[in-house]
Amino acid sequence: MTYTDKDQQYKRYTITSALPYANGPVHIGHLAGVYVPADIYARYLRAQGEEVLFIGGSDEHGVPITIKARKEGCTPQDIVDRYHAIIRDSFKELGISFDIYSRTSSPEHHKTAAEYFTKLYNEGKFIEKTSLQYYDEEAQQFLADRYITGTCPHCGNEHAYGDQCEACGTSLNATDLINPKSALSGAKPVLKETKHWFLPLDQDEPWLRQWILEEHKGDWKTNVYGQCKSWIDAGLQPRAVTRDLDWGVKVPLTDADGKVLYVWFDAPIGYISFTKQLKGEDWEKWWKNDDTKLVHFIGKDNIVIHCIMFPSILHADGSYNLPANVPANKFLNLEGDKISTSRNWAVWLHAHLKDFPGKQDVLRYTLCSNAPETKDNDFTWKDFQLKNNSELVAILGNFVNRTMVLTHKFFGGKVPAQGTLGDLDRETIAEIATFPERIGRNIETYRFREALAEMMNLARLGNKYLTETEPWKLYKEDPARTATVLNVALQICANLAVLCAPFLPFTADKMHRIMNLQALGWKDAGRADLLMEGHQLAQAELLFEQIDDAAIEAQVNKLLETKRQNELNAWQPRSVKEKVSFDDFGKVDIRVGTVLECSKVPKADKLLQFKIDDGMGGRTIVSGIAKYYPEPEKLVGRQVCFIVNFEPRKLKGVVSEGMILSAEDKDGRLVLVSPSDMVTAGVNVG
Ligand code: 2FM
Ligand code: ZN
Repeated sequence: MTYTDKDQQYKRYTITSALPYANGPVHIGHLAGVYVPADIYARYLRAQGEEVLFIGGSDEHGVPITIKARKEGCTPQDIVDRYHAIIRDSFKELGISFDIYSRTSSPEHHKTAAEYFTKLYNEGKFIEKTSLQYYDEEAQQFLADRYITGTCPHCGNEHAYGDQCEACGTSLNATDLINPKSALSGAKPVLKETKHWFLPLDQDEPWLRQWILEEHKGDWKTNVYGQCKSWIDAGLQPRAVTRDLDWGVKVPLTDADGKVLYVWFDAPIGYISFTKQLKGEDWEKWWKNDDTKLVHFIGKDNIVIHCIMFPSILHADGSYNLPANVPANKFLNLEGDKISTSRNWAVWLHAHLKDFPGKQDVLRYTLCSNAPETKDNDFTWKDFQLKNNSELVAILGNFVNRTMVLTHKFFGGKVPAQGTLGDLDRETIAEIATFPERIGRNIETYRFREALAEMMNLARLGNKYLTETEPWKLYKEDPARTATVLNVALQICANLAVLCAPFLPFTADKMHRIMNLQALGWKDAGRADLLMEGHQLAQAELLFEQIDDAAIEAQVNKLLETKRQNELNAWQPRSVKEKVSFDDFGKVDIRVGTVLECSKVPKADKLLQFKIDDGMGGRTIVSGIAKYYPEPEKLVGRQVCFIVNFEPRKLKGVVSEGMILSAEDKDGRLVLVSPSDMVTAGVNVG
């Protein structure tokens, strides 16, 4: 491993992936930003024969969890139990190859986080401060983090949280917010004294500046480096590492009743406690040895925590490694709109796995080839279909299938002899040898899209080779030449089975199975003798299947329905019209009548013709509600309200003597207005 990170030689790799909050399932944004790249990196390093520890787990503390529990009327533990299981199982099904997927509500984690705090406390690493914090007098609770919202002083976002503005990524103190509001009661909070412990980040500024801005210049991604620089340049402030809450790791001090560790303090320590859970006594080398490389995979909203706060926590202890790199990604949008849990604007992993069984690699491929590595990107269902049909099926699947089928047809499924090589064969073999390095270099520099594109270039090379050699035409005249061509093509297939594995692990397994190939490492790849003459292949199987328009349409319709629901949820009553006098109102003569007859007006889709008993001999009224009452005869006998003193109007040839009142629901549906009890036909409404 010598391509990056100052070309240092490492012996082992500790790879962490951001711990998702267990307050909902994970979606494609999480996957493209964090878990798919982290998994590719881990799988690649393992294939290189490196010692790897890939850590994941659920973040089960903090206000996002308690808010969700409050909304659903259950306990925080109920919430985290439910979502931890969903998240863990869906990651597993997608092939995210964590060595451990644990949770921060576990007793082991509580113990490790509390001990970490105690050590720093005993060494005098915190500042103890009594300060004024927002308090909700109605709910009788201090308002930590997301319990308080307001306007961000930096970008004007009106929905910033007490600890962070998600619009501009700035890390905030609740007292920075303009117009603060309690998320519990909506009330304006008051300031009340409370004691907390702070990490003096301001004192860390000199070494952070040196470490990030000098030592990692040109090494860390520009978006990560740029964000760190702007925070450091703006001047770092002490950050409280405790909160007044009853859900979390209890502050291990005698005078700290009702206080827990701040979730952003305990969650990253989860990486350490999960290592202890998995490795037992042997855990320290994964965190403390110089020859261990620590890499944090995160989304861009977690940069400050992983580049500044957690390193300061590790540095305060003094015996830990700092991350060698933090390759944070930007965000993935969905069909042109920001992914949003609250608006249900997302493709949820667990639902996707149900809708597309056995197609995990199609999702992995789409998300990696479109990963938001340098800018925010968009996931569209059309693109998902295209990536499957035009790339996986047409390029990779097609090449492997043609090679397998022809070998079965001409050589009974036995690898034929390589024979005498011509120029094209030699050039092709020489090119095969370049791919492990082309792909590996990109993975090691966190350019996963480029790495995947290179892997597909090898399949393209295979297709080009078959197109130029046309083995299907050759056999009759030149079986020996056909053998050479298929041998070379099979070597490409075997190389693909190794080189696609970090990206497409299920496909790699299938390729190993159909070629009857033993497990090979990355270092074996690049060679043209991976399959020896006479080796028996297994039956050919298609690697990928077409995804048809109907499957895509169903997903698009799901999103359209979500959009419709969101619009309905956003419905607001219309603003109140100008005031009118009682006399003005009195001019409108509203009555109750009983429907005697009701039918559709011929040649008018929207109109119903009513015969109303108005207590005055009856009248005809036409109303535009036909769409909402498809069986008009059923309205006979019902009472309706109508305006009796409207000028008569002719509608599609029928004279309408009044107007029937109806209410317009938020989806535009019209509903007749009726008295709640039967009354005498013709009485007034007022
Ligand atoms: O942003 C989030 O979803 C956090 N739960 C990430 C935590 S990562 C680390 F600190 F553990
Ligand atoms: Zn902001």
